Amino acid sequence: MNKSLRGLCALLLLCTTAFASAEDKTFLIKFSHVVADDTPKGQGALMFKKLVEERLAGQVAVEIYPNSTLHGDADEMQALLDGKVQMLAPSLAKFSQYAPQLQVFDLPFLFDDLDAVNRFQKGAKGRQLLSSMEKQDIAGLAYWHNGMKQLTAKRTLQQPADAKGLSFRIQASSVIESQFTQLGATPVKLPFAATTEALRSGTVQGTENTWSNIQSQGYAQYLTHATQSDHGVLDYMLVTNSRFWYSMPHSVRMELEAIIDEVTYAVNKAADRQNQNDRAQLQAAGMQITELDAAARNAWRDAMRPVWQQNEQLIGADVIRAAERANRRH
Ligand code: SIN
Repeated sequence: MNKSLRGLCALLLLCTTAFASAEDKTFLIKFSHVVADDTPKGQGALMFKKLVEERLAGQVAVEIYPNSTLHGDADEMQALLDGKVQMLAPSLAKFSQYAPQLQVFDLPFLFDDLDAVNRFQKGAKGRQLLSSMEKQDIAGLAYWHNGMKQLTAKRTLQQPADAKGLSFRIQASSVIESQFTQLGATPVKLPFAATTEALRSGTVQGTENTWSNIQSQGYAQYLTHATQSDHGVLDYMLVTNSRFWYSMPHSVRMELEAIIDEVTYAVNKAADRQNQNDRAQLQAAGMQITELDAAARNAWRDAMRPVWQQNEQLIGADVIRAAERANRRH
């Protein structure tokens, strides 16, 4: 056997062995997140695990770590990049360091409702944003809904001026920070897991979040009032480490993608219902919920709207315009 033929045989053997070992291996997906099981994301993670166990037994195993039990806001992205976890679904506000354009989702009063958010996510710009972090080894697999954000505080927030002087816990997004500064309030960036303690100690006296997070985190113990402002969206991007993802055989990835499509459909269909149920439970338990009429809603919109201009360069005018267009039904 001549030298080049021997080289070719060695290469073939190496490829076959690598292929055989990838085929035989059980891949472990550690899926870490920060919310409770009984929330849209928590339910989505559990459904993902169930379907993977049914359809890819022996090939892929899934472990779910809810409630920041493995990693929290401060370190989960680094854990993904370091290969300590293989799947996360951070809220879109938490990608600002990796893809500032994603802060389009944090602009107040941009989307009319979740249907508009859906149209934007499914359109060309939304899909482009899903793959915007690939150079950083972060692959976006899907958008998952939670829902529209509501304001909660120790007192009634009827008009924008009512928020003046209060400290609000916010996610680590400069857009959300400017939204509260615009109101004359003090935004305090805190990890999700630290919020309840900050409310208990009085460090902050308000929050913005979805009904499902307000309910499952027990914020009503400390915040007696909510305003149904629907002023912004809190959605997620299901992400994986692309080096991990492409280390799996093609057939396994195809099955995982089909499972993710199924779970995404279920999460996005159920999220609004879950939020409405949680709203009803909060109200039944005594939380005072203020609804805004058109004039009051316009006052909040006008107070927060300068944030768009302030962040247009960071996010991109084209991205903002595409999101605005999603409000128009075709
Ligand atoms: C989440 O829903 O994942 C948490 C959002 C937050 O930090 O408020």
